[in-house]
Amino acid sequence: MPDQNTPQFENWNGPHGEKWVANRDVFDRQLASHGGPAMEAAGIAPGIHAIDIGCGFGTTSLEIANHVGANGSVLGVDFSKPMINEAKFRATEAGIENLRFDQADVQSYDFKPGSADALFSRYGVMFYDDPVMAFSNMREGLRQGGRIGFICWRRGDENVWMSGPTKIAARHLELPPPPAGSPGMFAFAQKDRIDKILSQSGFKDISITELDLTVNVGPNVDTAVQNAMTLAPWAQALSSATPGTGEKISAEIRRAMSEHETADGVTIPSASWLVSAQG
Ligand SMILES: C[S@@+](CC[C@H](N)C(=O)[O-])C[C@H]1O[C@@H](n2cnc3c(N)ncnc32)[C@H](O)[C@@H]1O
Repeated sequence: MPDQNTPQFENWNGPHGEKWVANRDVFDRQLASHGGPAMEAAGIAPGIHAIDIGCGFGTTSLEIANHVGANGSVLGVDFSKPMINEAKFRATEAGIENLRFDQADVQSYDFKPGSADALFSRYGVMFYDDPVMAFSNMREGLRQGGRIGFICWRRGDENVWMSGPTKIAARHLELPPPPAGSPGMFAFAQKDRIDKILSQSGFKDISITELDLTVNVGPNVDTAVQNAMTLAPWAQALSSATPGTGEKISAEIRRAMSEHETADGVTIPSASWLVSAQG
């Protein structure tokens, strides 16, 4: 067991990581439009060497490998075994040669000093016990003048796609709120905190701007409700709830989701920070 980031390591190497891999299509659909702006912020371009931080099952790593082309390269790093195995499988299956993956914790990973032109992440940087240690370590891998570009979530209450169903569930289930700032998906909700972490890690020329995209939570209301009921962080609490609770929650979520149904599926507003800085 690692001596850092242990709860998150256990989470992403346990049922949560397995759930992500088993529902790869669902998560990719949700975040399909969210990687591009961060790639631009990181300066991803043909011929460069990039690192995908917390690369998960490799969707953005594959996209970047395609973009940088044969004269460039990509390294995807993630500490989740199920995620990285899936990423390796996909790269081999697609016959992509300028892409490799390592299963490791980015807070202590032995980045080759100054080897990368760009560090990129799509929602993969909010999970560290010691964010300054993690970002200082990543910066080691960046050449002088290279850039980091990433996207992370703003506050939970601004992210209706997630907080809407969670609020409904909380009326029926005991859901203790996570302590503010603790590692997790909303740990980078405060702009000042991101700025402070990046400055203390040695980054300069920091830009943090609001980015409001939609999250496509399903191709239709039925699937969107089913996804919420099985994939939301509170879904496991349903197994010990009193009989009928799941039905009440799912009926309320269905009503809320119906308001967001479009020809492209159920698309709900989200709120992110688009961050870029120089190493
Ligand atoms: C929300 S997922 C995003 C995955 C991927 N970037 C995507 O957009 O599909 C967060 C990822 O960060 C990884 N992660 C969290 N903490 C990490 C750490 N300390 N070192 C390496 N990977 C980490 C998790 O294993 C997970 O795959």
